[in-house]
Amino acid sequence: MKCEQHLNLAASIFSFIFILVLAARPVSAEPQTKIDFETQVLPTLQDRCFSCHSAPKAEPQSSRRQSAVGSQKPDGMDAPETSFRKPKAESRKPFKPKGGVQLDSMKGIEESLYGEVIIAGEPEDSLLYQRITLSEGETGIMPPPEAGDPLTKQETDLIRKWIEQGADYGAWTGNQSESKPLITDTHPHQPTVMPPITALAFSHDGKSVVACSQVGLDVYDWPTLNLQRTIAVQARNIHDLAFSPDGNQLAVGGGNPATTGTIEIFSWSQGESLRILSEHRDSVTAVVWRDASSLASASLDRDIILWDLRTGTPVQRLKGHSRGVSSLCFLDDKQTLVSTGVDQNVRVWDLTTGELIRSLNNHTLPAHDLALRPNDTGLPMIASVSDDRTVRLWQPTIGRMVKFARLKEAPLNVAWLNGGTRIIAACTDGAVRLVDPDSVEVTGEIHALKGWAYSLAVHPTDGSVVVGGPDAQVRRIVLK
Ligand code: HEC
Repeated sequence: MKCEQHLNLAASIFSFIFILVLAARPVSAEPQTKIDFETQVLPTLQDRCFSCHSAPKAEPQSSRRQSAVGSQKPDGMDAPETSFRKPKAESRKPFKPKGGVQLDSMKGIEESLYGEVIIAGEPEDSLLYQRITLSEGETGIMPPPEAGDPLTKQETDLIRKWIEQGADYGAWTGNQSESKPLITDTHPHQPTVMPPITALAFSHDGKSVVACSQVGLDVYDWPTLNLQRTIAVQARNIHDLAFSPDGNQLAVGGGNPATTGTIEIFSWSQGESLRILSEHRDSVTAVVWRDASSLASASLDRDIILWDLRTGTPVQRLKGHSRGVSSLCFLDDKQTLVSTGVDQNVRVWDLTTGELIRSLNNHTLPAHDLALRPNDTGLPMIASVSDDRTVRLWQPTIGRMVKFARLKEAPLNVAWLNGGTRIIAACTDGAVRLVDPDSVEVTGEIHALKGWAYSLAVHPTDGSVVVGGPDAQVRRIVLK
């Protein structure tokens, strides 16, 4: 009897341990066990994410239609059908997936935000994983605080492992009904109508402005904005251009997505192609001159290259951004380079050693542009802009974020005005906004063009500004 009891006890202890081991299994990372999306990952997404991240729904519309019919609306003015077919951003808002992210179908996931929601094999770079692993209370954590507790460690670990293993959806395809009308108006790099003007630069004499788009370089007369001529460029897409310090050459950065990035150097004002530099493996997004014979380029391939233009060869390759690099600027010492990236970081590089000095990570969404305040006698100051709708001011040499302004719409491009006493930002609603760098208040808002104001340049002397947008729009703005 006694003996049997002992045996029973031993058996139950054993099975208890066995259950513990079983329970612990999903947490411990066993590389062999393959995560099954449908049974191990999907339920969490369904439960915690689908309510806000599903395909645009026709359902609320049809119920509205019924009630409209029921109440025999006389004028038929907001016929819901019309507003459904021809979506106005406003009227669609309640029914579209939040943040332009659709998680209820494989196609939706893959097409959301340029495929950055889940990057197979790279959980740290996948927006979905980034957002579910922010610390509790941090801006941007998913699900948002009002939608309940953060995911458990077990849930996030499963998702991590699933992404690491290649993000295989198995047989699941998800909601097939409507994954098409994903509205991507929350993210740049995406032409809305026609090739947009992606960058602008004034010639040193201020008599011309050069605009780049997919078709090449358009040279406009200033201030009449009469088109003088078009210069053909080898790259399929062009993202940035910059005049050399003496104004006699023009560097143009672009490329063919996911294949090559190129920098083409032209003589100014002849417009003759002098040289092509092509070491990048993805589009070049930014070019900045260091001096007459060297320049730095940034690329979606995540690297920054410093070029010697006498030989046409790379002298340094700076690695550290975990996503594409979006913008660059040199500090006045020409030894310190600052970059922004899709990885939300502002990074500071020492070119004497080629090392990353520091990473500043206050932006909570991809950063697009940055600009050095001119005429600084004290610590250098930089303004950066991001999809998080902020203009942030930094002292890059000591690694401090000084302050920030939050705008109504996301800024895409930034520049300093009036010798560094004002900041101007071009935004996704086609407006330019003026920010006082001391009070960080928005002191002005000027509607510049239709659609996104992708690009912006400040005239060297007359105080006016040129703004570029979709459909080859180029506008002159005179500031008071
Ligand atoms: C209550 C609604 C709600 C729920 C639930 C929710 N989200 Fe979101 N999500 C939003 C909103 C609103 C945005 C856009 C604002 C932002 O980016 O923070 C967004 C944005 C995102 C983005 C885009 C980030 C970017 O960089 O543009 C991702 C990824 C995301 N959510 C993932 C998730 C995941 C994964 C879950 C479930 C674990 C989830 N969300 C649950 C409302 C929600």
